[in-house]
Amino acid sequence: MRIGLVGGTGRMGEGLALRWCPKHDVVIGSRDANKAASAAQGYVKEALEHYGRMDGSISGDENSRLVGYCDVVVLCIPYENAEPTLDSIAQNLRDNSIVVCPIVPMSKSKEGFIYLPMHEHKDSAAVMVSKRLKNARVVAALHTISDVKLRRFNEPIDTDVLVCADDKDALAVVSELLKEIRNLRPIYVGPLSLAYQVEGITPMLLNVARQNSLKNPSIRIA
Ligand SMILES: NC(=O)c1ccc[n+]([C@@H]2O[C@H](COP(=O)([O-])OP(=O)(O)OC[C@H]3O[C@@H](n4cnc5c(N)ncnc54)[C@H](OP(=O)(O)O)[C@@H]3O)[C@@H](O)[C@H]2O)c1
Repeated sequence: MRIGLVGGTGRMGEGLALRWCPKHDVVIGSRDANKAASAAQGYVKEALEHYGRMDGSISGDENSRLVGYCDVVVLCIPYENAEPTLDSIAQNLRDNSIVVCPIVPMSKSKEGFIYLPMHEHKDSAAVMVSKRLKNARVVAALHTISDVKLRRFNEPIDTDVLVCADDKDALAVVSELLKEIRNLRPIYVGPLSLAYQVEGITPMLLNVARQNSLKNPSIRIA
């Protein structure tokens, strides 16, 4: 499968590329093609040092180009600047593309981390994405995975990932990809309209971490 990581030069992008490259062709996206190529080169070096060989590959390209040839696109971009990026990829995005949205709209207040859409009476990030990318099948996932754990790619991730989606086929494809990350368990929550519940867990986890001196807490449904 060809997986495109929009904003893949950042922290989540690195972790996902290193987790998926043994089996898949991963394309690192950036606003700048040179930056994408150089990040991809670095990840290949890291992956080969660890895995010895890869059946997949890691390459780099501009965000707006890779969405035209990838099977699954993951939006590894900050919430604050997501809208212009979505507009820049909308035109080239293939019809019915599967778009994974891990975006967490949050900020820090005096009291602690807060979930922005609740305070600003806005859509969840996933619903905002589905309104901007009308030809995409959006799957909300990966919000509670710490990039630190994801990038320690020689270690399993013993955690659950809560998933929201409207399209059952897209959900199945993304769930299989998530299961390939060792010990990670995808759990379906419901349609995309419920994504606000899942996105809102991340600021809560960060508050838990801060108040209890915990490092990179995650969740398990028992
Ligand atoms: N980090 C985590 O642990 C974590 C966990 C769960 C969910 N998430 C979510 O995953 C998403 C990515 O997180 P991250 O930590 O990987 O982000 P990040 O490292 O801060 O940024 C990722 C990439 O976004 C691009 N970017 C930065 N500013 C931009 C702008 N103004 N316009 C367009 N692109 C811009 C950059 O790529 P170029 O400069 O190459 O274009 C950057 O490398 C976020 O929405 C976050 O809420 C993160």
